Amino acid sequence: NPTYRIAPSILSADFARLGEEVRTVIASGADWIHFDVMDNHYVPNLTFGPMICQAVKPHAVTPDGKPVPIDVHLMVQPVDELASAFAKAGADYISFHPDASAHVHRSIQNIKSHGVKAGLTFNPATPLDMLDWVIEDLDLILLMSVNPGFGGQSFIDSTLRKIEAVRKRIDACGKDIRLEVDGGIKESNIRAVANAGADTFVAGSAIFGKPDYKAVIDQMRANLAA
Ligand code: DX5
Ligand code: ZN
Repeated sequence: NPTYRIAPSILSADFARLGEEVRTVIASGADWIHFDVMDNHYVPNLTFGPMICQAVKPHAVTPDGKPVPIDVHLMVQPVDELASAFAKAGADYISFHPDASAHVHRSIQNIKSHGVKAGLTFNPATPLDMLDWVIEDLDLILLMSVNPGFGGQSFIDSTLRKIEAVRKRIDACGKDIRLEVDGGIKESNIRAVANAGADTFVAGSAIFGKPDYKAVIDQMRANLAA
């Protein structure tokens, strides 16, 4: 089975202690740090820009100092200039919503031109057919299992069928592309999301909303291994 990755979203972290929160959640077992970037234009909420990524980057390390991937999820329109700014601010993965870019293939190439891994993010009702033409260029496909803009929402069950469809596409193209799912993921449903074909899991409120981050992440891993 694939190497599962747990990517806590800092959207639900204590923004007044962000560096400390990132160190703690990594020490508690997080594999990636998921940055939910919202511009109050593409989605009706506003979070943070490249400067926060720059500020947090030195704290995205394991206790013995190993850097942990920063997984930037751009819920912004337009895409390209912010994608370049986040690349310069230390992002390791940058994914964007194709409906927020006038030229999806070019936006993917722009991210890769900075030496950063590129991903596309599909909302619950967004069709997948453009993958026919760009899947080979991707390092990540991010499926929204909630409507983008807010943490703490409930998982949309129809996403399970969509995960299965993307898993088939990834397996057919034979490239090493991570399948990440974002929104409403808890200890109780992570196994079903993995069974549908996901290998990377965003969780915000399920982790940062709890007093013991390690207990939650350990339980998620136990449920994945069951
Ligand atoms: C939505 C955000 C959230 C966040 C995860 O725009 O992308 O999905 O990452 O939030 P939870 O895990 O609290 O649903
Ligand atoms: Zn996200």
